[in-house]
Amino acid sequence: MQAALDHIRRHASNAPRVGVVLGSGLGGFAQELEEAHAIPYASIPDWPQSTAVGHEGKLVFGTLSGVPLVVMAGRFHLYEGYTPQQAVAGVRAMHALGVRTAIFTNAAGGINAGFARGALVAISDHINLQGANPLAGPNDDRLGPRFPDMTDAYTAELRAIALDTARELGITLHEGIYAAMLGPSYETPAEIRFLRTIGADLVGMSTVPEVIQANHLGLRVLAISCVTNMAAGLSGEKINHEEVLETGRMVRQTFVRLLKTVIPRLDR
Ligand code: HPA
Repeated sequence: MQAALDHIRRHASNAPRVGVVLGSGLGGFAQELEEAHAIPYASIPDWPQSTAVGHEGKLVFGTLSGVPLVVMAGRFHLYEGYTPQQAVAGVRAMHALGVRTAIFTNAAGGINAGFARGALVAISDHINLQGANPLAGPNDDRLGPRFPDMTDAYTAELRAIALDTARELGITLHEGIYAAMLGPSYETPAEIRFLRTIGADLVGMSTVPEVIQANHLGLRVLAISCVTNMAAGLSGEKINHEEVLETGRMVRQTFVRLLKTVIPRLDR
């Protein structure tokens, strides 16, 4: 990790205060940055590579309405075979660069019948069913506590700002609970019935390790899902990754508009 951090620090073009992790099909957001400067993952020593289609694989520094940002275009999933620690390398790096507010976006299956394909949902809480935790193993007490509290894992204050901003912009932003599965297979209809029963509104294969790591490091967290498809068994259709990417492209403009307005308001 140290070699990666040294490399990123040497090549960073600013001191970011906000970090954004982009989900499947949402990579286009990085093009919105001003004074953008990219560091390809491939150039960073000891750094995981993005293998998932729809994930680009670069760190992009830049500003948005004057706020210095770093954007991860491409994240690392447990289903790619990464360890939980590798999956959160980006969050560790952001924190080391001085980021204090982390925004996670992802593509998710909709379980709550009130969501339609393309819906945007601010995550209010999660259920970790990945069977893994990035904090397992020795704890570095300098970075955070052995047993971090997760009561406000998704910072209520930031979510309120996002909901207010969406309302102002005329964008519908729902709230919901995200269940994280290991993947890479999509869920079965029986699994989706189970997830609904235990209180999940959304299902996906990312974000939760990163949010756990962010909380350990004391970062403030905002997470927004794009419902790219209704979860297995709910629409009568099979799920495919192409549909997931296509929905990401469909809502991209709305998503970007929301993020561009929200980000300067979070950084106070
Ligand atoms: N399940 C899990 N992850 C996903 C889905 C889904 O239906 N859609 C997008 N990511």
